[in-house]
Amino acid sequence: MSRRLPRRPRAEAETQARLLEAGTTDHYLDADLYDFEYCDRVDDIRFYQAVAAQIGAQVGAPIKILELGAGTGRVTRPLLADGHHVVALDAMPAMLASLREAVLDDDTRARLEILEADMRAIPLPDVAFDAVFAPFNALMHLYSWRELLACFTDVARVLRPGGTFAFDVQLPDLDWLQWDPDARHSITRFAHPRTGDKLIYSTNHTYDQQTQICHIRIFYDDAPPQGRKFVPPPRPRRLVHLAHRQIFPEEVRMLVAVAGLELTSLTGDFAEKPLRRAKESQVAICVKPR
Ligand SMILES: C[S@@+](CC[C@H](N)C(=O)[O-])C[C@H]1O[C@@H](n2cnc3c(N)ncnc32)[C@H](O)[C@@H]1O
Repeated sequence: MSRRLPRRPRAEAETQARLLEAGTTDHYLDADLYDFEYCDRVDDIRFYQAVAAQIGAQVGAPIKILELGAGTGRVTRPLLADGHHVVALDAMPAMLASLREAVLDDDTRARLEILEADMRAIPLPDVAFDAVFAPFNALMHLYSWRELLACFTDVARVLRPGGTFAFDVQLPDLDWLQWDPDARHSITRFAHPRTGDKLIYSTNHTYDQQTQICHIRIFYDDAPPQGRKFVPPPRPRRLVHLAHRQIFPEEVRMLVAVAGLELTSLTGDFAEKPLRRAKESQVAICVKPR
């Protein structure tokens, strides 16, 4: 008779560490594909531009912005186009390379600093910024309350008194988190923006209630001929792991308060709607007291 041995805690910790490493990097290795997948996402860009413009109207534009998890510069470039100074911080060289290679005129490039660093320990001076932005779920890559608090505390340190911290993270959806982890969702046919390969995108995920981390799997498979039904192959052509720690609204309020900031608004999505179940994102604006 075979008996299942209890999993060794060390092996479990190693597996978890590997999953989190992949979950922080896999999705950000192909910057062209990243930009293609999110090219329709514009509401958040307008939101961060509006926040920067409002600060500029109060203290005088252009302002100094630190952007955490800036990636390929999807939000950075419009902020630069508005005349602001931006330090674009990110941990992934492939994402930053895309921003570095972006075609920018000399004046714009002079207002951009690209910084490869970890947002859990921000290597920048105190009271240096009018605003810190963390767009599009970047904070969901901080996998424990300690990591989140380290980041929030550093944000408070680098902001000038009266400075603004704005960010958006998903609003946890308990129904979605418990979807069948073996099914395939969001099945989409597309052509890779660089290679032209005809592919099928699909996803599923597993939610770990202990850690609050959702382990998302993104599958890229060869597309069958037009008109033929897609049947997932036993082995995907490419599997991307994406780990997102869920941050509940009360955690947002606590992190902001413990870091010594004041929450001025916490809304659902970017149109300042109340936080409700149907909303995909929670959008926070906080200030550092004077
Ligand atoms: C969803 S992307 C957002 C990119 C960009 N802000 C946008 O809106 O398109 C999250 C980014 O956070 C970065 N990131 C994840 N963990 C990080 C960390 N600990 N320190 C710095 N950057 C991190 C990733 O490399 C990735 O570029």
